[in-house]
Amino acid sequence: MSSRLRSIDWVGDKVRFIDQTKLPNELDLIETDDYKIVADAIKKLKIRGAPAIGIAAGFGIYLGVKNFEDDDKENLKVAFQNVCDVFAKTRPTAVNLFWAIERMKKVFYENLHLELVELKKKLLAEALAIQNEDIQMCRQIGLHGSKLIPDEANILTHCNTGWLATGDYGTALGIIYTAFEQGKKIKVYVDETRPLLQGARLTTWELMQRGIETILITDNMAAYLMKLGKVDCVIVGADRVALNGDTANKIGTYNLAIIARYHNIPFYVACPTSSIDFNIKTGDEIPIEERGSEEIVEIMGQRIAPAGVKTFSPAFDVTPNSLITAIVTEVGIIYPPFEENLQKIKRKIYARD
Ligand code: MRU
Repeated sequence: MSSRLRSIDWVGDKVRFIDQTKLPNELDLIETDDYKIVADAIKKLKIRGAPAIGIAAGFGIYLGVKNFEDDDKENLKVAFQNVCDVFAKTRPTAVNLFWAIERMKKVFYENLHLELVELKKKLLAEALAIQNEDIQMCRQIGLHGSKLIPDEANILTHCNTGWLATGDYGTALGIIYTAFEQGKKIKVYVDETRPLLQGARLTTWELMQRGIETILITDNMAAYLMKLGKVDCVIVGADRVALNGDTANKIGTYNLAIIARYHNIPFYVACPTSSIDFNIKTGDEIPIEERGSEEIVEIMGQRIAPAGVKTFSPAFDVTPNSLITAIVTEVGIIYPPFEENLQKIKRKIYARD
């Protein structure tokens, strides 16, 4: 356990997470050893952000088998699969979730011959490894990405990609933090990120805690901001990157990429390689989560549209690779042609595993 507050952590024999739906008004820490509470927290965005969701699934799956006492391997397999299925059904787009589930499954089946108590230890060790690796990956993303940030840069970001969304530190925000720690004077414009306001509620909160100059805008102001010459680069995170570089991220990211191209502004994606889906060729294969209408017809519980109005609420969109200047990962900065260069990363990663 670390002394530093993390959005999700392992404390004693429980998971502790920040209920991100209550920020910035309330810092509510929830401790639980019930895997169903963890799964529900992912569904309700109490735990959110692709890497944090993956970490939560690792801990949650361990919790799901922790109290299992039946030594019968067949019963154990059924129980384990059920727990994995509960997590797989929480949110469909962020591939980190499925990546973490697969890692837990691999450890489970490779160690099924062990005594139950030993098998449980292996599962906890894997969940902790997923968390620790994510923290290291974010650090590396920050170091690589900070090379793209000139001194006095004005940066625009979308949604929340900081320590709340990851094991610690962040991806796109990790780059911003690193550049700031290197002494670069930077200014960050933050899209509010409707409908759930991750930018207004979470990103501004994180950036201001670090003393970084933060300017909140509503999502529809970005093009004008660019026209005024106030944006040197855009940096966003990713929920799933296809092998050709097409990138799913929070709804509104695609708009930003289009207007950035129109204004000749570099558009960077930052993510760990755990957010790359090496099994899909293009963004057309990425499942896009649709959420309930209440998130559109209400703002923070306050109704803003007439009763009965029809809505459409995709949580993510896919930015085509042609609009992306570079993808920053823990293994380095990847430039176009993404098809070719992501294949190289795939080969490297598969050789390492
Ligand atoms: O719906 P959310 O809040 O989970 O969406 C989060 C995003 O889209 C982030 O940009 C992405 O997960 C990267 S977080 C490092």
